[in-house]
Amino acid sequence: MDTAADITAMRRAITLAARGLGSTSPNPVVGCVITDAAGAVVGEGFHQRAGGPHAEVHALRAAGERARGSTAYVTLEPCDHTGRTGPCSQALLAAGISRVVYAVADPTPGAAGGGDTLRHAGVRAEQGLLADEAEAGNAAWLASVRRGRPYVLWKYAATLDGRIAAADATSRWITSPEARADVHRLRAEADAVLVGSGTARTDDPQLAVRGIDGVTQPLRVVVDTNATAVKPGARVLDDTAPTLVAVADDAPAGHLPEAAVLRLPRAGAGPGLDITALLGALHTRGVRSVLLEGGPTLAGAFVAAGTVDKVVGYLAPVLLGAGPAALADAGISTISRALRLDVTETVRIGPDLRITAVPAPARKGN
Ligand SMILES: NC(=O)c1ccc[n+]([C@@H]2O[C@H](COP(=O)([O-])OP(=O)(O)OC[C@H]3O[C@@H](n4cnc5c(N)ncnc54)[C@H](OP(=O)(O)O)[C@@H]3O)[C@@H](O)[C@H]2O)c1
Repeated sequence: MDTAADITAMRRAITLAARGLGSTSPNPVVGCVITDAAGAVVGEGFHQRAGGPHAEVHALRAAGERARGSTAYVTLEPCDHTGRTGPCSQALLAAGISRVVYAVADPTPGAAGGGDTLRHAGVRAEQGLLADEAEAGNAAWLASVRRGRPYVLWKYAATLDGRIAAADATSRWITSPEARADVHRLRAEADAVLVGSGTARTDDPQLAVRGIDGVTQPLRVVVDTNATAVKPGARVLDDTAPTLVAVADDAPAGHLPEAAVLRLPRAGAGPGLDITALLGALHTRGVRSVLLEGGPTLAGAFVAAGTVDKVVGYLAPVLLGAGPAALADAGISTISRALRLDVTETVRIGPDLRITAVPAPARKGN
């Protein structure tokens, strides 16, 4: 049975895991806490970057000899395979850990099985403690493994009457500095930040994380079918972070840095590029989470393709009365086909409201 001490240790491991958000892809975020027989914490660690030691290895190093006979709490099933680092199941065995409590089973084919390896070697290995909390902390990575494409969070900032720009296309700034700082946190947690050519043309956004120390900058992606929106000198091409400009196979893109050009097929039906191919190409490059920052036309295409996994809307107490809505055509023509969402959180951010929602279970299936 799980004790209060078990829960405290696992919750600490989940907190540690979150420190890796934005810098571990294509790996998951993982936290680990090791406690001795008296329940005292003797080692802690989290996975900091792909290619670096796993959480368990950091925690085992911190624990040293005190790991013998101890309990390890891990947010994800210890890996059982040799990648850039050795299997954590073997590292835990070698250190003499006698009990392993992990929250979520590893769904990766080839990496799973660490729990069984530990059990077969005589270690008490238990799965499921605080599984929902640990799963939420790793939502993007787990979804990307299960769906074979990056997890997509669509974020927008709108007035209370649902507009993301004024009639003359000006949109700076609808929301408060506090809300905009919060967006930089979302960027920092994402592997890639994505906008459409309309936004690139109107706003010339830099799409980098600002105001957060030591951050791993996300990949910046502009979907610019005909290679006409991103011009030499565009802010998104500065050297703050890597950039990809997704263009059609046949687009003339000689004015763009060669390494920045991502060639993709056009959409089979409708305008622009094939969204599934775009997400597939990003997944191949190790991107596990995408922050879709609009605008409304591209967001509509993502909704139509069934590829929005989470929505974060910042609503400002501002009225415009005219101007584009947050979401353009998403292929929904009647109320019975509306994409219904479940609200998972509402928070006041300065004068604004942040609403987080996910597709309601009946409509997920994407
Ligand atoms: N407040 C906010 O949160 C927010 C956020 C972002 C933008 N904005 C505002 O939104 C406005 C721009 O929005 P927008 O809707 O015109 O532009 P957008 O959504 O940024 O870009 C739309 C363009 O993306 C390209 N695209 C490529 N593949 C596509 C596909 N499969 N489906 C649809 N489009 C695809 C299309 O142009 P090509 O095919 O020619 O490339 C399309 O016209 C600006 O005023 C900006 O300030 C506000």
